[in-house]
Amino acid sequence: MIRLGVNIDHVATVRQARRTYEPDPVTAAALATLGGADGITVHLREDRRHIQDRDVQLLRQTVNTRLNLEMSTAVEIVAFALTVKPDEATLVPEKRAELTTEGGLDVIGQADVVRAATEKLKAAGIQVSLFIDADIAQVDMAMDLGADAIEFHTGTYADAKGEAQANALADLRTAAHHAVGLGLHVHMGHGLNYHNIGPVVRIPGVEELNIGHSIISRAVLVGLERAVRDMKQAMAEHFPNPKR
Ligand code: PXP
Repeated sequence: MIRLGVNIDHVATVRQARRTYEPDPVTAAALATLGGADGITVHLREDRRHIQDRDVQLLRQTVNTRLNLEMSTAVEIVAFALTVKPDEATLVPEKRAELTTEGGLDVIGQADVVRAATEKLKAAGIQVSLFIDADIAQVDMAMDLGADAIEFHTGTYADAKGEAQANALADLRTAAHHAVGLGLHVHMGHGLNYHNIGPVVRIPGVEELNIGHSIISRAVLVGLERAVRDMKQAMAEHFPNPKR
């Protein structure tokens, strides 16, 4: 089965709206794990708008599945990651004014900084994933930079309709096939929800989905454990061969 990494940033978003102590993302991580999450994903943004340093430190001590830290290549953030040692670091582009990550990291245009960050993280035993668009040249460069995995940005697919969505899906399939051929682990994420994951789950070679907004939105209404369980079930229903 494909792993589900549950992104709990939005739990921290609610807490930070009042600068208080609740809801606590560390508690959320425990409940998501009870619901069947295969990993916990958090994005420590440079502006600390949701997840705080303390959250990542406590999650490192309490998450016994996989802790995936989404992060920029900023020197300060890389230094922090080296002290915390998540299981995996996913390098993402970051703009202060954006509502959420808007596109993949341009690993060709930013090859030098990405290589430097990748080397430091890998030397500390942290698996490195690069969040990129479904583009063959970006995949080739990710390989060249020494990434262990790539996470394809599924936002274009998620936002599109009809033929545009079919084209975006075809791009994801082609890029995933190419990446698997190079020996890269293939992850996907952004904008995925209970209704649009089917075709993504069926792309051969995908090992992990990272999903936040739709799960936390459902959790507000039905509880986090159930929201995660529902997503795992939706993934299983679409998985071509559950025994794989
Ligand atoms: N993967 C990456 C690299 C992301 O930056 C995000 C958003 O933080 C996600 C997955 C989750 O996206 P969403 O909240 O739309 O499910």
